[in-house]
Amino acid sequence: MTIRSILLHPDPRLKKRADPVTEVTDDLRAAAADMLETMYDAPGVGLAGPQIGLMKRILVMDCIKDPEVAPRPMVLLNPVVSWASEATSVHEEGCLSIPEHFADVTRPAEVRVRWLALDGTEQEEHFAGLWATCVQHEIDHLNGRLFIDYLTPLKRQLITRKMEKLKRERARL
Ligand code: NI
Repeated sequence: MTIRSILLHPDPRLKKRADPVTEVTDDLRAAAADMLETMYDAPGVGLAGPQIGLMKRILVMDCIKDPEVAPRPMVLLNPVVSWASEATSVHEEGCLSIPEHFADVTRPAEVRVRWLALDGTEQEEHFAGLWATCVQHEIDHLNGRLFIDYLTPLKRQLITRKMEKLKRERARL
């Protein structure tokens, strides 16, 4: 397994819609393992294909934060929200592609998601709490949408300018 480098906002690949997975290949299985490794290393609770430049509808997540509880690494291919609650919740979100910036985002509090698993089976699950926020945030990535797109244009521009500066500084190192 390899830790991949995570693309930083702004990057055109983070604004693009990712393509459906049509076949589960060994390459895709290897990419999923790399994505989990990269996510745990960061550390983060979710990572989507486009964030490592893989323009496929694949995301990984594990929202178990309690070290006393067994990890639950999940890989979702072609995930679709099949139901969303009317009730919303507000979570302070961050993103591995926008490090050190956090903001409150309002989303449906609970969702049902359908996806294809790596073994080729169809799965469906009800998510609540952090899992619901995370899976919606990651599905957004597959549609070229970032959490800062929910903020006012002014806040979004402020974060984007700071990220441009950070990328320039990193490029100089
Ligand atoms: Ni993100």
